[in-house]
Amino acid sequence: MMQKGKVAIVTGAARGIGKATALALARRGIGVGVVDIQAEGGEATAEEIRALGVPSLAVPTDVADSGQVDAMVEQVKARLGRIDMLVNNAYISGGYAPVPETSDEVWNQVLAVNLSGYFYCARAAARVMMGQGEGGAIVNISSGAGLRGSISAGVQYSASKAGIIGLTKGLAADLAPYGIRVNCIAPGLIDTGLGAAGRWSGWTRAEVERYEKKEIALGRVGRPEEIAEVVVFLLSEAASYMTGEVVVVDGGASLAHKRKKELPPT
Ligand SMILES: NC(=O)c1ccc[n+]([C@@H]2O[C@H](COP(=O)([O-])OP(=O)(O)OC[C@H]3O[C@@H](n4cnc5c(N)ncnc54)[C@H](O)[C@@H]3O)[C@@H](O)[C@H]2O)c1
Repeated sequence: MMQKGKVAIVTGAARGIGKATALALARRGIGVGVVDIQAEGGEATAEEIRALGVPSLAVPTDVADSGQVDAMVEQVKARLGRIDMLVNNAYISGGYAPVPETSDEVWNQVLAVNLSGYFYCARAAARVMMGQGEGGAIVNISSGAGLRGSISAGVQYSASKAGIIGLTKGLAADLAPYGIRVNCIAPGLIDTGLGAAGRWSGWTRAEVERYEKKEIALGRVGRPEEIAEVVVFLLSEAASYMTGEVVVVDGGASLAHKRKKELPPT
């Protein structure tokens, strides 16, 4: 359901969900502009894609800088020939501080990367897609935090992720006349590996295990590939009648299942 030879841009593709998405697209013959602020990680992803025989170009970019974003989009179009798809995924969380101690700096940084960055990339990619006149598709990665509040990060993160849902709806309405579909995914907890500090999403492995058993209906956290496959679906012709939609992919964490676990069997 995906046409070989098309080209996607994936932001935050040096690791985690972005990398899994870039590889999932490449396996379908889609060329990928790999965008990340981490040059080395981005280049490693692009190399893995080229090893599959698919064109890929790493463009180190800070998505919070609209000048860098415009230059990146120009570079991808010049080198890979066209742009048909965009996956907005790069993010920072800003960590957690109680509201009274949340600084202007953290608030502004997180909104700049997670919300303005998504807008800058969508605007620049839409200009190219509109110029090509063949439609296109955009997927914005939000979070359950944008719907329910965050389980680990501060208010800046939930606010940015809720903003992405509004951005998705606004873009979808505006770009529909050009055949450009825009959808959004709200993942639950996804295992992107423990960081150097032995923590992930601010949690230790033991805390993650406690959470998955108690809070997630399917009893486990998700894998990056389980988000990547939904991104592929939303970008593909299989989703040709979907736009402005928010798809929750959280293993049933938002279901009302917890009380039932505590009830005796009937
Ligand atoms: N992992 C989860 O549990 C989870 C849950 C819900 C939503 N999400 C969302 O999924 C997306 C990916 O999450 P992940 O866990 O794979 O993240 P990650 O931390 O593994 O990767 C994020 C990438 O974004 C890059 N990045 C950060 N700032 C950037 C900037 N200014 N410009 C360009 N690149 C930048 C980083 O270098 C990194 O490679 C995010 O939008 C996140 O909010 C993740």
